[in-house]
Amino acid sequence: MVYGKFVCWIKMAEKDFQLWMEAISGPGASIQESQKAYGKWARTYEQDAEKYRFNNHIKVAEILQDLFQENQRDKIRILDIGAGTGLVAKELKKYGFRHIDALEPSEAMADEARKFNLYENYFLEFITGSPSSISANTYDVLTGGGIYAKEAHVPCEAVHEMIRLVKPGGFVVLVANLDLIRASKNYTDLEPLMEKLEMEGKWKRVLRETWIARSVENKTIERIAWCFNVL
Ligand SMILES: C[S@@+](CC[C@H](N)C(=O)[O-])C[C@H]1O[C@@H](n2cnc3c(N)ncnc32)[C@H](O)[C@@H]1O
Repeated sequence: MVYGKFVCWIKMAEKDFQLWMEAISGPGASIQESQKAYGKWARTYEQDAEKYRFNNHIKVAEILQDLFQENQRDKIRILDIGAGTGLVAKELKKYGFRHIDALEPSEAMADEARKFNLYENYFLEFITGSPSSISANTYDVLTGGGIYAKEAHVPCEAVHEMIRLVKPGGFVVLVANLDLIRASKNYTDLEPLMEKLEMEGKWKRVLRETWIARSVENKTIERIAWCFNVL
């Protein structure tokens, strides 16, 4: 009986998960539709993120801990793109990082982060292949957790803007669901573009790691982390 209820709860979690994924990045979802869905999801996003094991923020923080000694961390300026409700900032603050700005197009998602004063500045905009409102060479680190999905998320060419925003010598740290990237025709050019920029001397890859992680309903997914040193 108890086991039956447990299985039923897991099935519901799986169904809700599929519905949210369809809404934010299902086949043919436009950017407007995806953003509308984030607007609806914002208040319960973090609760679901825990249930569905969206753990990109944990890996982002692990990488930054390796990059910076404890006594350096409160001086580092970070831009968190696709910041959402602030999971990356919440995690980074546990380890002494203090100066974090958010770039996030969904006002409702950013409002959740505002409730906990997670970021110093909020840029309510999209990152694309064109320059954002932020000046070049502003940050020591740019982070992005879960910014790539099948549709209507960060486009490949945004890597140009990531490089522009980071000071020479700084880092770009991205963690994503590799299964989503592989399943999306939008990202066929992502790693080739990253490699091309390395050949052009714009940045140097210092880490590329993939691993199998648990997901909703005890399924597994493959995740990926990249860290680039901007030159
Ligand atoms: C799956 S959520 C991840 C949120 C947060 N980083 C986390 O780890 O929980 C993806 C976020 O990216 C934002 N987003 C989508 N397209 C974007 C773009 N082009 N530029 C910046 N953010 C974008 C969405 O509004 C959403 O808040």
